[in-house]
Amino acid sequence: MSITINQPLDMHLHLRDKAMLKTVGPLSSASFSGAIIMPNLVPPVSTKEELIAYKSRIIEACGEDTFTPYMTLFFKPSYTKEFLKSVKDELTAIKLYPAGITTNSEGGVSGFDVNELRPTLDAMSELEIPLCIHGETNGFVMDREAEFVSIYEMLASNFPKLKIIMEHITTRESVEALDKFDNLYATITLHHLLITLDDVAGGMLQPHLFCKPIAKRPEDREALRRVALEGHPKVMFGSDSAPHPQHTKESCGCAAGVFTAPIALQVLAELFEGHSTIENLQAFVSNNAKAIYNHIKVPHKTVTLEKKPFIVPAKYGDVVPMYASETLAYSIVNIQG
Ligand code: DOR
Ligand code: ZN
Repeated sequence: MSITINQPLDMHLHLRDKAMLKTVGPLSSASFSGAIIMPNLVPPVSTKEELIAYKSRIIEACGEDTFTPYMTLFFKPSYTKEFLKSVKDELTAIKLYPAGITTNSEGGVSGFDVNELRPTLDAMSELEIPLCIHGETNGFVMDREAEFVSIYEMLASNFPKLKIIMEHITTRESVEALDKFDNLYATITLHHLLITLDDVAGGMLQPHLFCKPIAKRPEDREALRRVALEGHPKVMFGSDSAPHPQHTKESCGCAAGVFTAPIALQVLAELFEGHSTIENLQAFVSNNAKAIYNHIKVPHKTVTLEKKPFIVPAKYGDVVPMYASETLAYSIVNIQG
């Protein structure tokens, strides 16, 4: 039994910088045609010069691989229409973080005052720049995303021409919001399709599964699986693969992030095959993203997987992946392009 995926895309990826970029960049560029690159470096990517320089560091780290980094800027309400016009051709989206909500997001938005945001969001609508949002309030950790849905709805109704991507959704409430507004879309990670809070903290604490948004309840995971496995046209795969050095995960004050880039396609194949929905995997990992981000050019690449054991390395550099040292059912057997 073999599965071939055309032009796999990861629509939410953290590649970091310097030595970490050199370690993790090639692990994505080997098997994906492209990825939306998150801007939460220190300092965040927020000027045209920083964005162009970061893109070239990524391309250099990925060597000869056929891979397009789709760049994003870190949202600031101070971005003017002139600035956005000048940078439009270099970026694919802008990423909005609420201030302090996750790794390196201190310079994000505090309070969602529509009047303060309007000039930038109007300009983005006009220039057709999608807005990716980390949708969590600073409320109780299990309720943060559900509480944010009213902000998504406020933005979607005030800016009906703006494409809004609810990043890494984890709840039933976010899934329900998808069908209420034409301009709301979502990415879903691998780990949120697989785990619940029980896997993180139900037994001994599993720091390598700790991430933001935190994994939720079984019924939330069911809602995510339903739309992912059916290939719902408004959802796309975004790994949120977020590498952290081992000592920052296995420590007091564990960093948030699950590193999944090198295992994502293998585990997705097993998940979709196990639910007899393998025919929808192509939509989830590529076609939906191409339709939603309709301006992107996607390089040609095909990845073939077979049911053949793959032992996940214990570490990639200094990063412990999800399922470290475990055996997966599917392996990548061929990559063309
Ligand atoms: O778990 C997470 N890690 N969630 C995020 O939103 C950011 C990411 C990171 O950059 O480490
Ligand atoms: Zn992320």
